[in-house]
Amino acid sequence: MRIGVLGVGALTEAIVTGVQKSKSPYSWCLSPRSAFRVERLLSLPQVSVAQDNQSVVDQCSTVIIGVRPDDLQSLATQIKLTSDHHLLCLAAGVHLETLQKMFYPAKVTRMMASIAAEYPGASVFFFPKDLQLSTCFSNAGFGVQSFTTELQFEASMLSVCVNAWWLDQVHALAQTFADETGMPLAEAVELLARAQQESVTLLKERRQTTPTVLAREIGTPGTFTARGLYHLKERQAEKPWVDILSQLLKELKSKE
Ligand SMILES: NC(=O)c1ccc[n+]([C@@H]2O[C@H](COP(=O)([O-])OP(=O)(O)OC[C@H]3O[C@@H](n4cnc5c(N)ncnc54)[C@H](OP(=O)(O)O)[C@@H]3O)[C@@H](O)[C@H]2O)c1
Repeated sequence: MRIGVLGVGALTEAIVTGVQKSKSPYSWCLSPRSAFRVERLLSLPQVSVAQDNQSVVDQCSTVIIGVRPDDLQSLATQIKLTSDHHLLCLAAGVHLETLQKMFYPAKVTRMMASIAAEYPGASVFFFPKDLQLSTCFSNAGFGVQSFTTELQFEASMLSVCVNAWWLDQVHALAQTFADETGMPLAEAVELLARAQQESVTLLKERRQTTPTVLAREIGTPGTFTARGLYHLKERQAEKPWVDILSQLLKELKSKE
């Protein structure tokens, strides 16, 4: 498959790199703007650059739209599309209906990813569900998730936000390991990354067990883990996380 990219930015660079490093690389045709990113991507196999945006859509029926939301309208005026085009739009917070009107008569699917797309096993989310796209990205090693409602899809973006919040906590914990034991910070980060990997394994392998039950299985009575769980629960450590998440979800819902 040949995929076009309109808007070669941080996110699309990560996606193209991730797919090209995978077992199932595709062929890519990039818009020429953002020369330094384009130049980096041209070092990968099967990546070419088009003369202009129209040339991208003339060469590819599947096109990823990677421009920022404010640039969508101006992009739409620069290209002539047909009903054979399928656009995968990464813009956060722009509804499917708006995109369909903007890029008529092309088919539009909303897509969500993060800059982790550069690495194996990253996630991509789609709305609405599209079997061909899911297969294409699964083959390239991505974890693909689709949602039944657009609100659920919008909310999927917050899982990426939660990751950033968690990374900040990891830094604080790693710094404590480093301060208290003399372990280099990078080693402490590696230690916590491995532990995190183990919780991901448990979550995937023991899908029938809720996360909190898993936590209690690790933290059997009298262990350091149990003391930590009690300490955090007593101080309602989850509260600021739940508060900000529900606040952001309310804001997403109000835009529906
Ligand atoms: N970054 C993330 O982690 C993330 C996560 C979720 C969703 N998103 C969504 O993904 C999209 C891209 O985000 P990003 O962080 O990758 O942004 P970015 O790095 O700013 O990339 C956008 C690129 O599009 C280019 N562009 C703008 N108008 C264009 C046009 N008419 N033709 C061709 N190229 C054009 C920009 O060039 P100039 O710089 O010259 O304007 C820029 O290189 C956004 O819609 C955002 O909402 C991003």
